[in-house]
Amino acid sequence: MSDAANVLARLAQLAKLGAYGAGLDRPLASPQERAARDLFAGWARAAGFALRQDAVGNVFARREGTRPGLKPILTGSHLDTVKTGGAYDGAYGVVGAICALELLEARGAATAHPIEAVAWVGEEGSRFPLGCLGSSVFAGISRADDALAIVGDDGVSLRDALAASDGGLLPGVPMRADRDVAAYLELHVEQGPILEEAGVSLGVVTAIFGQRRLRATVTGVSGHAGTVPMRMRADALCAASELVLELDRAARTEADAVATVGRMLVEPNGTNVVPGRVTFSLDLRAPDEASLDAIERAFRDAVADVSRRRHVTVDVEAFERRKPTPMTPALRAAIHRVAAAMGREAVDCPSGAGHDAMSLGTIVPTAMIFVPSIGGRSHVAEERTADADVELGVEALAAALVEVDATLGENGRG
Ligand code: GLV
Ligand code: MN
Ligand code: MN
Repeated sequence: MSDAANVLARLAQLAKLGAYGAGLDRPLASPQERAARDLFAGWARAAGFALRQDAVGNVFARREGTRPGLKPILTGSHLDTVKTGGAYDGAYGVVGAICALELLEARGAATAHPIEAVAWVGEEGSRFPLGCLGSSVFAGISRADDALAIVGDDGVSLRDALAASDGGLLPGVPMRADRDVAAYLELHVEQGPILEEAGVSLGVVTAIFGQRRLRATVTGVSGHAGTVPMRMRADALCAASELVLELDRAARTEADAVATVGRMLVEPNGTNVVPGRVTFSLDLRAPDEASLDAIERAFRDAVADVSRRRHVTVDVEAFERRKPTPMTPALRAAIHRVAAAMGREAVDCPSGAGHDAMSLGTIVPTAMIFVPSIGGRSHVAEERTADADVELGVEALAAALVEVDATLGENGRG
């Protein structure tokens, strides 16, 4: 079965893995995330697609092409979620990829290039601090050994987590040694309000915002909340609070930029104890590097000022730095042709959210198809997309794969 009902049924199957309250918590190399990779592998096997995986756990399912020697067109997304995630972010692009391959199979639609559905690992960076971990390794942005050495929130390295039986690599699936790829297409829910506001069901991404992830550790002096006079305090949380508000202020002065402190760890976290240490995350996004530079500079200036005034030390570590990623014009045009042929309107839109397409976009022609998110909501349990839009996106992806196959062929690229 490769119809709309199948897409929805598979999303519902995945939504049972890591169910947490009303939403989902499925971090990389957890038993639930491993089960999600297993499910994907089962669908691929049932459809007769050959499976491979790589050292960090990315899984690839391949439908062969008709012209020997051509590199595959990849399509997919991620199976991990944020701590309070929904059922569509990432899962939709993975399920959509395998369903699109099945649609091509059912319709006897041959492509010259092989097409591979891929489930990237660790896109969210929600257990291990590097976002787009799997696709970054595949694209050669990060070395596999470095990624495997990253230690997660629980003190376990990715290498050890992937060696464990419940969170690890899939048994019996051969390793992929090559990084051959001709082009990349990713289907995703928009996660914002633009398409819904425009009343249009298909979006063609123009570019993905540049992004930086940092972590600040503020160290002051802990003490008794009743006895340390205010003039003698080095309160790490008061210092961190000033820095958070300065980041917010700096982001508001840059058009279309956003900055978020989404995690904060206060130690020792006692009602009647002056906070001695605070660690917090920084997530900066903007359409251009100059805005990111300006926000980061303002934050670092504030660090110098606050450290001096509040007698604390502040360490700032940078984990991730991605330039804005433009999508490939020829592939965007192919998606627009497909939408027109389907009699559907499609609009160009930027992506403030990060995607594995940022990694692939550094090495091959890359494009993304968006479908609307109800109320623009995502990274929350209430994340939803209308069933009809879910189905439409998969049809558009299947057609776009055929169109891109032909486009690459005409240009003589492999
Ligand atoms: C991933 O969803 C991100 O944009 O951080
Ligand atoms: Mn995503
Ligand atoms: Mn996400």
